[in-house]
Amino acid sequence: MKAKSLYTLLLLLVLMACKKERQSELKPQTPVAEEKEPMQMYQMSEMAAYMEQMYAAHQQMKQQILDGEEITKLSFDLENLHSAAFTDPKDYDAFFKTWADRFKQYEVQMIENPEQAQHYYNQAIQACISCHEVKCAGPLPRIKKLIIKP
Ligand code: HEC
Repeated sequence: MKAKSLYTLLLLLVLMACKKERQSELKPQTPVAEEKEPMQMYQMSEMAAYMEQMYAAHQQMKQQILDGEEITKLSFDLENLHSAAFTDPKDYDAFFKTWADRFKQYEVQMIENPEQAQHYYNQAIQACISCHEVKCAGPLPRIKKLIIKP
């Protein structure tokens, strides 16, 4: 009984992550006993995995900026925004491309203008938020925590 409610909870979390289409990706035969690693319940797309990598990198960069450390390069490839495979290929539309390019611009400006790193970092996070408000609301609460408050 306990295992079953845990399963339901994990299922709910996975479905909430981004969009409802995820449901079709869940393996229906997954036995309840194999719950230890919830991430195995669905195959994360290349784009979702890349986004998770960017998320972790920005947590680190936020700390670096707060510590007054200079960020000299990005630990991920910005070009993946235009090459990684999506869960739903329809997401790669004009809206996505516009915001991906704005995001890229702020990231580059952050590296090129160390004295204004915090400003451009926050602009970049705002671009994550603007795209996610339309494309993928699930991770918004996490992304908003990346903002550096003045
Ligand atoms: C141009 C639009 C856009 C930008 C900019 C963007 N994202 Fe995303 N993000 C998406 C889309 C679309 C997905 C879903 C990808 C998929 O499922 O294939 C996604 C997925 C994610 C996920 C995984 C959600 C899940 O569980 O499936 C996280 C976490 C995430 N983004 C964080 C970020 C962070 C942090 C930034 C900025 C540093 C960012 N995103 C910038 C559009 C964007």
